[in-house]
Amino acid sequence: MKKIIVAIDGFSSCGKSTMAKQLAHEVGYIYVDTGAMYRAVSLYCMRNGWMDAENMDVDCIESNIGTVHLEFKLNDQGKAEIYLNGENVEKEIRTLEVSNGASRVSTLGAVRRELVRQQQIMGVEKGIVMDGRDIGTVVFPEAELKVFLTASAEIRAKRRMDELRGKGEKVSYEEVLANVKERDDRDQNRKESPLKKADDAIVIDNSELSIVEQQEILRSLFDQKIK
Ligand code: DC
Repeated sequence: MKKIIVAIDGFSSCGKSTMAKQLAHEVGYIYVDTGAMYRAVSLYCMRNGWMDAENMDVDCIESNIGTVHLEFKLNDQGKAEIYLNGENVEKEIRTLEVSNGASRVSTLGAVRRELVRQQQIMGVEKGIVMDGRDIGTVVFPEAELKVFLTASAEIRAKRRMDELRGKGEKVSYEEVLANVKERDDRDQNRKESPLKKADDAIVIDNSELSIVEQQEILRSLFDQKIK
């Protein structure tokens, strides 16, 4: 059967990865979470002292980005986990601190160029579902199926708060909402590959949709494309 590239872009915390992961699992495609790649770079920069909550040493990060090697490996349950220079960092990259860092480090041209290069290699054989912010516009402008997923900032903040609390982080709704809005603003207004809907992307607003409903919509779009 014909293999295609599925690009899923959209705002932070709107459920892109749940959606992309589920489709990849159903149809036997590879799933790539590009946000995890920017998060791993952020963790790497923090560990090396090139970035903290306030500052980042742009020259240092840009000249060392070539030393970051990222790969995804499946765990025992068949879930893809990210490895940073050989170390599994799947857990470490999911904190609020690392996500703030990822949003800042992803504004740097050299970082984006390197990660886009690695992402394009992952899609050479197609049969891939990739989620992020610039997949349909920059990484795979020729992707056969492009989805732009969105939901209101308030709903996304509520979902994100539940997720973080579930992991034991002590966060308030106001703090998470402010973080969601700040990241939206940065993602949409950065100079390098800002988040925007590709002209040929299909918009899905899942504010009022259940996971099952959104999955049915995506699956039917996919089935039409591979016919
Ligand atoms: O999807 P996420 O929240 O895990 O992404 C973390 C950050 O990385 C987010 O602030 C935006 C950035 N990002 C990006 O700029 N381009 C991508 N393709 C994926 C993520």
